[in-house]
Amino acid sequence: MSYYIKLNKSISVPEFEELEETMYFGENKEKTVLQYLNVNMPNSENLYKIIPKEFRKDFRLNSTRINSQLGVHLDTDATCRINFYMVTDNCITRFFLPKVDYPFRKTINGKVVFSRSDLNEIDSFVAQPGEAWLLNVQKLHDVTPPNGINFCQRRAITLFTTKFSFIEVSEMLKQTGYID
Ligand SMILES: [Fe+2]
Repeated sequence: MSYYIKLNKSISVPEFEELEETMYFGENKEKTVLQYLNVNMPNSENLYKIIPKEFRKDFRLNSTRINSQLGVHLDTDATCRINFYMVTDNCITRFFLPKVDYPFRKTINGKVVFSRSDLNEIDSFVAQPGEAWLLNVQKLHDVTPPNGINFCQRRAITLFTTKFSFIEVSEMLKQTGYID
């Protein structure tokens, strides 16, 4: 079972304008760790083309900004995401499995964050600008800056769905030729 797949082609992100914020995560507004924003992207078909036509209506676009270490979590608003990375600062996306039946978790500002001590890191990747990766966000994951620093800048445009599983979307991307 894989948790992520790198797309076999780099896809340039068309020009876009960021609109209103749809979600933020952090202790408070001044310490925003993660932010989603709606986007206006007139040529969005350049990204949507990776999804077979009949399924495109079930995918949406947003801008994803990460500013520092993001705690281990499950996404509640997507089953999987395709991230088109623009800035990555060599941030590491890590995946985890619980060591115990009920890993410790706490709620920060309405979002559930899991304790690292009850988890085993099982896989990770570092994306570079220009690359696109499919992520299984129904598996425990985090994003961490390299070298133990706390600050990073990671910017991506994300194509996401709440309808299809990671496996289903990987099959779609095979069909369009973006996954080998
Ligand atoms: Fe996530």
